[in-house]
Formats: sequence, C-alpha cells, structure tokens
Amino acid sequence: MKILVTGGAGYIGSHTVLQLIAAGHQVVVVDDFSNAKASVAGRLEELSGTSIPIHSFDVADLDKLNDLFDAEDFDAVVHFAGYKAVGESVANPLDYYGNNIGATISLLQAMDRHEVRHLVFSSSATVYGADPIVPMTEGLPTSATNPYGWTKVMIEQVLRDLAVAQPDNRIALLRYFNPVGAHPRDRSARTPQPCQTT
Ligand SMILES: NC(=O)c1ccc[n+]([C@@H]2O[C@H](COP(=O)([O-])OP(=O)(O)OC[C@H]3O[C@@H](n4cnc5c(N)ncnc54)[C@H](O)[C@@H]3O)[C@@H](O)[C@H]2O)c1
Repeated sequence: MKILVTGGAGYIGSHTVLQLIAAGHQVVVVDDFSNAKASVAGRLEELSGTSIPIHSFDVADLDKLNDLFDAEDFDAVVHFAGYKAVGESVANPLDYYGNNIGATISLLQAMDRHEVRHLVFSSSATVYGADPIVPMTEGLPTSATNPYGWTKVMIEQVLRDLAVAQPDNRIALLRYFNPVGAHPRDRSARTPQPCQTT
C-alpha cells in the first residue's frame, strides 16, 4: 500500500514510518517540523535503507495537501500530526484547537476529494477523562480535562459522524498511551531520535 503518514517526523510517527517500510509499504510523510528536527529525515532514510519523500508543510494547508494527493495515489493515511503537550494546551488553547482540528479537517477534505477511504487516527487515552473506569473499554463515554484532550474528543466525534455519512470509510481510532516499543512486535524497534514527548 502507499500510505501517507502525517506527523511522520515526530516521535511515534517516525517509528511507524520505519515499521510500515519494514512491512513492505510505500510511505510518504508530511510534517511541518514544528516539533521535529530536520535531521530526522536523513536518519529515517539511513535506518530504513530507502528514500522517503518527506514534505515540509502544515497539514492544515488544503491547497498543498490537494496537490500532494493529486500527485500520489494514496491507499491510506495514518494521522499523527498535532500538538500534544497538555500544559501548553491549557496556556494556549486556540493554538491547540486551531492546529489539531484545523489539520484534521483539511486532511479529511483532501481524503474525501481523492476518495481515500482508509484512515488511522492517533487519538489518546486522555479521551477517557478525569476519572476513567478501569478497565477502559471502547464503549465508555468520552470527555477531557484539558484542551489537548478535548481536541481528541472532538476529532473522534468528527470521524464518527463521517463514518455514518460515508459508510465506505474505514476509520480506526487508536487511544493509546503505551510508549513505542512496548508491544512485543516492536521490541526490536530502533530509535531514530530522542523522545520528544512533553
Ligand atoms: N506520545 C504519546 O505518548 C502519545 C500518546 C497518545 C497519543 N499521542 C498522539 O500521537 C500523535 C503523535 O504523538 P508524538 O508523541 O509522536 O508527537 P510529536 O510531537 O513527536 O509528533 C507530532 C508531529 O506532528 C508534527 N505536526 C504538528 N502539527 C502539524 C501540522 N499542523 N502539520 C504538519 N505537521 C504537524 C510535528 O512537527 C511532529 O513532528 C499526536 O497526535 C499525539 O497527540 C501521543
């Protein structure tokens, strides 16, 4: 498959890029490098032993996204691009709502226009709110305690609405909190950059 990875220069995205390539997929990355080092690009190519197209722009830029979707015939998208620092989101909520939701809406519009129907969204276990019932199951109600978490709750709702309106879509919401490498299949994962989780 040819897969677009948004935020593919970031912490989880960069590991995912390597795993996708190792599994035989073609990968294209879009990242605005707002929270990634330029050196990640070379490091990814070094570790994967292959050339990886990495486009440096804001996923909210619909014109650039449409140009990219015109040029590439994507089968699926894995969407990591977004801000993720809880404290920062409390101090700068508009930045978080604007970036996380704006980038997602543009991405969904470009996918829809180009009839790309497969999406994996990097949500978060923060959607279980302040006092989660354990064990956490998918059917539990969602809420949040900070703007970052609310962006995940809101984006999940947008994606559920889209799935109702367009049943051909195949959308997965991953609500994880495990570090990269925690899954047995990832134990041999190599680290392309230091963890930038804040
Ligand atoms: N790290 C975790 O433990 C964790 C847990 C749950 C969910 N998540 C989610 O997974 C995703 C990736 O997390 P991460 O830890 O790899 O974060 P990260 O900051 O390392 O990676 C995000 C990447 O997206 C890029 N980016 C941000 N906004 C962008 C935009 N508008 N356009 C293009 N690129 C943009 C950044 O430059 C960065 O490279 C985030 O959405 C985060 O909320 C992370």
